[in-house]
Amino acid sequence: TRDDRISRISSSIRVIPDFPKPGILFQDITTLLLDPTAFQDTIDLFVERYKDRNINVVAGVEARGFIFGPPIALAIGAKFVPMRKPKKLPGEVISEEYTLEYGTDKIEMHVGAVQPGERAVVVDDLIATGGTLKAAVRLLERVGVDVVECACVIELPELKGRDKLGDKSLFVLVSST
Ligand code: PRP
Repeated sequence: TRDDRISRISSSIRVIPDFPKPGILFQDITTLLLDPTAFQDTIDLFVERYKDRNINVVAGVEARGFIFGPPIALAIGAKFVPMRKPKKLPGEVISEEYTLEYGTDKIEMHVGAVQPGERAVVVDDLIATGGTLKAAVRLLERVGVDVVECACVIELPELKGRDKLGDKSLFVLVSST
């Protein structure tokens, strides 16, 4: 059942206290990747949701959106577009800045990777404050893409990232306290 799949996914995620900083409970999806059943179920749950919805673009956020995004894209017949940290992409880029606890960060996408009117899902492993996903959505919308939904394996609801996304729909498999 769906619940069995979700609980297997949830228990395959390792939680590491005080990484990368004291007080942070790090959600480590590398242990999910070690369990082929849990990994497959993760991909399947997203594919079941997005097939037959005319999605042309799966945009993956560096770094762990590059793990979950491509198998989803292949399964639904969409292109995969990497949204990268600054200065990694070789071609012409457009970028979007977002605020961190201290300072700012940026994500970039190749110009011409997507076209106005295309329908996208943005994929990452986790939503915390929502700043990263919000920037990814803005970047795609600036070039006229219709962002249908954001999709993550894990949500940290206490950080209210869902609110930061506003009206934008967010789909998650696991909520973690
Ligand atoms: C983590 C995570 C998301 C982002 C979520 O990435 O994989 O991309 O933080 O945080 P937010 O909702 O508060 O924006 P991280 O910053 O660790 O970068 P990395 O994937 O390159 O390690």
